[in-house]
Amino acid sequence: MKHFINLEDIPAKDLRRILIDAKKRKIVRKKLNNLDPDKGTPLKGKLLIQMFEKSSLRTRLSFFLAISQLSGRTLTLRPDELHLSKGGESIEDTAKILSNFGDAFMLRTDNDEKLEEFKKHLTIPIINGLSPSSHPTQILSDVFTVEEIKKKPISKLNITWIGDSNNVLNSLIAASIKFSFKLKVGCPKKYQPNKSMMNYIKKNKNKITFYNDPKKAVEGADVIFSDKVISMNDKVNKKRKLRDFKNFKISKNLMKKCPRAIFLHCLPRGSEVDENVFKSKQSKVWQQALNRVHVQKSILLYCFGKLR
Ligand code: CP
Ligand code: NVA
Repeated sequence: MKHFINLEDIPAKDLRRILIDAKKRKIVRKKLNNLDPDKGTPLKGKLLIQMFEKSSLRTRLSFFLAISQLSGRTLTLRPDELHLSKGGESIEDTAKILSNFGDAFMLRTDNDEKLEEFKKHLTIPIINGLSPSSHPTQILSDVFTVEEIKKKPISKLNITWIGDSNNVLNSLIAASIKFSFKLKVGCPKKYQPNKSMMNYIKKNKNKITFYNDPKKAVEGADVIFSDKVISMNDKVNKKRKLRDFKNFKISKNLMKKCPRAIFLHCLPRGSEVDENVFKSKQSKVWQQALNRVHVQKSILLYCFGKLR
């Protein structure tokens, strides 16, 4: 049994094994319907319990399809209907019940410590479906999408992030270290990653560079990533933050500076990308979203110790 909480904690070779498995599984599903099972029904009889403390469309649907295609089932709990969130029941006792009734737990949370606390008490795998500090299932899936479209290992590509230093960027930074790819980050100076992330970057002698000029950050890029300037539960002065990011909008003009680049965005989007970029040929956001199903299937199998 394995947990999937942060890319930092997972060996690079395991992350690669997950991507290889996802690629094989995706190829053989071409003619199947969404709910048709994969051959071998690898997670038959298994129950994935999901809980979302924040909104979700893609993660919810993609985990539903992922476990269904592996022949397992999912049940989504509403946090406001549990004793846990009303303060009446501890994480320890909740975890005991989840472990007895289910086979894996996927949690989207507004508190990183909750993931660790659940991990301590669960005897089943826990998967991080987004936390304030990371979004590992998204980024592993995005590495898959990049390699699928560019037909090259990501280590041979130039990746650029334009936007806030948020959970998605933290996972992209971790991926850049695990998969050894060059990453340029374009954001206003005061929005660079926090100290602990910067220390992680330094410690790992990485290939990450920071730019306060978006035009410099996109030079030579094969992939441009972006995300909302204001994340869920971002407790900032929203008006001021949006103003600070005004020059970091992904516009047609900016994309012209990196003509071979594809545009990726985990969604939902805000005002950080112009409509004519979002809907352009360079944009691969729908393919990106769909790939979550394929990669999360292999993440589930990894957690269950059933990766081929
Ligand atoms: N990208 C992503 O995680 O989307 P949701 O918030 O809709 O799940
Ligand atoms: N950074 C965004 C990602 C949403 C999928 C957020 O946390 O709101």
